[in-house]
Amino acid sequence: MEVIRSAAEMQKKSFAFIRESKTIGFVPTMGFFHEGHVALMEQARRENDLVITSIFVNPLQFGPNEDYERYPRNEANDLALAADAGVDLVFIPSAAEMYPAKMLISLTIEERANVLCGRTRPGHFEGVLTVLAKLFHLIQPTKAYFGMKDAQQFSVVSALVDNLNFPVQLIAVPTVRESDGLAKSSRNVNLDEKERKEAVSLYKALQHGRQLVVDGEKNPAIIVKEVKEQIASQLNGKMDYVELWSYPALEPVSVIDRQVILAIAVQFEKARLIDNLVFDER
Ligand code: PAJ
Repeated sequence: MEVIRSAAEMQKKSFAFIRESKTIGFVPTMGFFHEGHVALMEQARRENDLVITSIFVNPLQFGPNEDYERYPRNEANDLALAADAGVDLVFIPSAAEMYPAKMLISLTIEERANVLCGRTRPGHFEGVLTVLAKLFHLIQPTKAYFGMKDAQQFSVVSALVDNLNFPVQLIAVPTVRESDGLAKSSRNVNLDEKERKEAVSLYKALQHGRQLVVDGEKNPAIIVKEVKEQIASQLNGKMDYVELWSYPALEPVSVIDRQVILAIAVQFEKARLIDNLVFDER
């Protein structure tokens, strides 16, 4: 497995792969791998000639009071896991390599980013879009893999690819969970023992919300209220939001008659956790 740290070298390498008519599966990440990241790499391995993953904690997508400095890092372990998953090349640029000069161009998004995590993280999705536009140009993937754990991110990146005609196919991979249902996340290591036990209530509440729909409740307001009550009764962490929108457009729904996302964010002492379920009216 090869490691490249230079953007110019990465792009040159990808041009060479494309000249050889190789398909490239790309898994963009911020590192500190867990089974969620590995699932993306394994699927990319099955579907492409070459698998490239990037490890880059992107400063542009962190707000001033967020956990950029505290974001967990472990390059040696990441390289071992990537090699096990069959990755061919890992791109690990520094911040100076990705942003050598002041950015004069920025990407903004008109819809889809002003709800859920976008509301409390101004600039976050713009930062994600900017880094992905750069990574797509450097790596020129045939397919790029994203986890549904970050369903809003998938929706926003889909708009980027559609609107700007990036020649890449996006693949959504289901959320990988711990045995008790907690969605795997690099941030789970920042939970203390008590918080870790409470954190399972995010997924439980989402499942409860979905069950209400299965049982015939089609009113989003009632579902959101019930899910909020269930979370509040089981959790000391601060509830950031419980929201229900159409998916992938992320527009308001007055009655559940199409595919929707039910999503939760909770702020614990040192970690903010998110989770969601995407389902339809049945
Ligand atoms: P990061 O949080 O490292 O996540 C990398 C990819 O792994 C994302 O597509 C994310 O949705 C996926 N992922 C994380 N946890 C998962 C889980 N439990 N199950 C399945 N997939 C999971 O998302 C980012 O990095 C960044 O925003 C990035 C896209 C790299 C841009 O900087």
